[in-house]
Amino acid sequence: MSAKSGQARPEDAGPPPAAVVPDAARSSPPSAWRRHGEQVPRFAHGSRVPGWDDAADLTKPPAVIPDPASTPVPDRLRESVTMAMAKYPDRRSAAIPALHAAQEEHGWCSPEAIEQVACVMQLTPAYLSSVATFYDMFANAPKPRHDVFVCTNISCSLRGADDFHGAMIAAAAQDPDVTVRAFECLGACDIAPMASVDGEYVGPLETADADQIVADLREGRPVLAGKQLRFRKCVDPGVAEPERAGAEHEPERAGVEQPGTSAVKILFHRIDEPGLNTLEVYEHRGGYDSLRKALKMSREDVLAQIMDSGLRGRGGAGFQMGKKASFLPEGEMAKYLVCNADESEPGAFKDRELMQKTPHTLIEGIAIASWAAEISTAFIYIRGEYSYQADILEAAIAEAYESGYIGQGILGSEHSFSLVLHRGAGAYICGEETGLLDSLEGKRGNPRLKPPFPALEGLYDGPTLINNVETLSTVPHIMRMGGAEYAKIGTETSTGTKLVSVSGDVRRPGNYEIELGAPAREIIYGLAGGPHEGREVKFWFPGGSSAPVLTGNDLDIAYDFDTLAKAGSMLGSGSVIVVDDSHSVLGVAMKLAKFYAHESCGKCVPCREGTNWTVKMLQRIESGEATPMDLDIMASVQEEIIGNCLCVLGDSMAMPVGSMIKKFRGELEAEIEAARERSGAGSLQDVVAVGVADEHAGPAG
Ligand SMILES: Cc1cc2nc3c(=O)[nH]c(=O)nc-3n(C[C@H](O)[C@H](O)[C@H](O)COP(=O)(O)O)c2cc1C
Ligand code: SF4
Ligand code: FES
Repeated sequence: MSAKSGQARPEDAGPPPAAVVPDAARSSPPSAWRRHGEQVPRFAHGSRVPGWDDAADLTKPPAVIPDPASTPVPDRLRESVTMAMAKYPDRRSAAIPALHAAQEEHGWCSPEAIEQVACVMQLTPAYLSSVATFYDMFANAPKPRHDVFVCTNISCSLRGADDFHGAMIAAAAQDPDVTVRAFECLGACDIAPMASVDGEYVGPLETADADQIVADLREGRPVLAGKQLRFRKCVDPGVAEPERAGAEHEPERAGVEQPGTSAVKILFHRIDEPGLNTLEVYEHRGGYDSLRKALKMSREDVLAQIMDSGLRGRGGAGFQMGKKASFLPEGEMAKYLVCNADESEPGAFKDRELMQKTPHTLIEGIAIASWAAEISTAFIYIRGEYSYQADILEAAIAEAYESGYIGQGILGSEHSFSLVLHRGAGAYICGEETGLLDSLEGKRGNPRLKPPFPALEGLYDGPTLINNVETLSTVPHIMRMGGAEYAKIGTETSTGTKLVSVSGDVRRPGNYEIELGAPAREIIYGLAGGPHEGREVKFWFPGGSSAPVLTGNDLDIAYDFDTLAKAGSMLGSGSVIVVDDSHSVLGVAMKLAKFYAHESCGKCVPCREGTNWTVKMLQRIESGEATPMDLDIMASVQEEIIGNCLCVLGDSMAMPVGSMIKKFRGELEAEIEAARERSGAGSLQDVVAVGVADEHAGPAG
């Protein structure tokens, strides 16, 4: 018997459950996290799955649940895990919260920590290891006390993140308590280049800040107090505020002319009002009146208002919310509402500002939607890195429960519903709705085959309505204004306003609320200030890193769902990343391809292999090994990915990379030639000459 777990373990059963520790990490001292920690750790075979290429050992006993009688569990951990399990219809859903608690208790997800969680949850350690190894925020090897996650994704790297990352590694080299990791987009591209220091978001960073961060951590002071995101005001010039406290934290926005197309403020109306995150201020502004109104109407009438508004999903696909809600079967049964707050696509950071500043708007939207779709169990799945916003939401949910906006018979009506905030643990794929559902069920976040669609078979196999934070936050406003009135804003097929996150090479990065159909030029130049002096827009992603790029010649098109689709791109989540003419297409393509290769869940071949192939082919260009034929091969790889994957993560890389090859082929060919010259591989003309000469030489002899 194993002393700790009480598991039956015959002598020949091999070593204790070492599979929870990756091979590379097991032999590495903690400091290796800093040395090799430039990328999020993965297993030697490149997968997130430990031992997936090892043959199964059939001599091992079947997995056993640790015996509570012989598995000591610290009281605090036991209590956290037990409380987490009580929140869900299925206890396994508590896997991620339980692992967060175990990591806090033990410093990392050690075999002992996993064994303890397995004991309390009555699951096998193998099950929990498989979950822990999927998510970037869980450490599967010992790590130093302080975490500095430096974002090196597109918007941050355009503004110097790679230099800062180097400086941060150098600064932390003297301190064994600090680990530095390059991280994918942290949802704060408005303060690029940025980092998350023990969960505190700071930026924009300069290389000189690196030493200060280490010093602040050492002294136990608030990290870079003047650069913390939590104090940042909204950059939108149309956001009127009763007070302007904390001016030292405000981004530059004085003197910005407000273009007419940004005049309507619905979601951002006085968003910076002090205390708006509290129920008191929210109610003072008429908060929850829309819920009162909705509860006096029939479900059908509420749904009709949402339909009439024409509101299209703000999370990426742009599907009409009312239509989606109407797909759910009617009648009493276990149905679920899930708010998608994963927001992990590079360039996206609007949901973060909404949740932080006006969490009750989201809760009210969820309450109304749950009434309309006859749902009594709701969840908000928030990305694990948004810990500050999650704390705010948790406090707001508690207030809403206390005041009868959530719970049994809300506001004296016949409608009852519960709401649970679920924190993720770092995996972009958990934003994909079915990957999110698996993750919420306590599994690895692997997408599911569709159909069946979640509206019929989703969470715990029940009908599920999944909507984005911004979509749901718009619902109270639709109820207040009336669906038809809301539909008058924007264009016929893209109604309403939209929060647009603008980042990259612009003077005033940030979130702006625009009327759909506004000219893109007005957003990029009018609101965000355009590129810096002397620079021009070279290309831009209209809808996050997954959108095919448009060029500086496309700035006069209308920013709405259909116009962008007609222009060969998409509006997506409304995240505009601007790249000016000082940056190379190759550098951006490389960042993008690496991101998708890292985030691919590995379930289907075109995505898993195609994203990695694309990285390798881009590396060939950089190293001087490529010829223009590589561009043709790379373009054909993208075509083979599109439409052939289980979910659209693969397409999300293939579409923008394909568009870059098409629109910037001349530049990429010049890069190939220049890199060949640099590496001594020889000019392409020589290669062609040699190739032709050989071909015409005929067989030897
Ligand atoms: C790889 C991938 C990541 C996604 N990430 C998000 C996300 O972070 N937030 C979100 O709301 N939707 C995301 N989506 C879209 C969701 O699958 C889904 O369409 C959306 O949550 C539906 O809400 P909506 O109709 O309100 O837009 C993602 C999709 C894919 C393929
Ligand atoms: S497309 Fe990529 S992320 Fe989506 S299921 Fe396939 S491998 Fe996983
Ligand atoms: S936070 Fe760095 S790219 Fe988004």
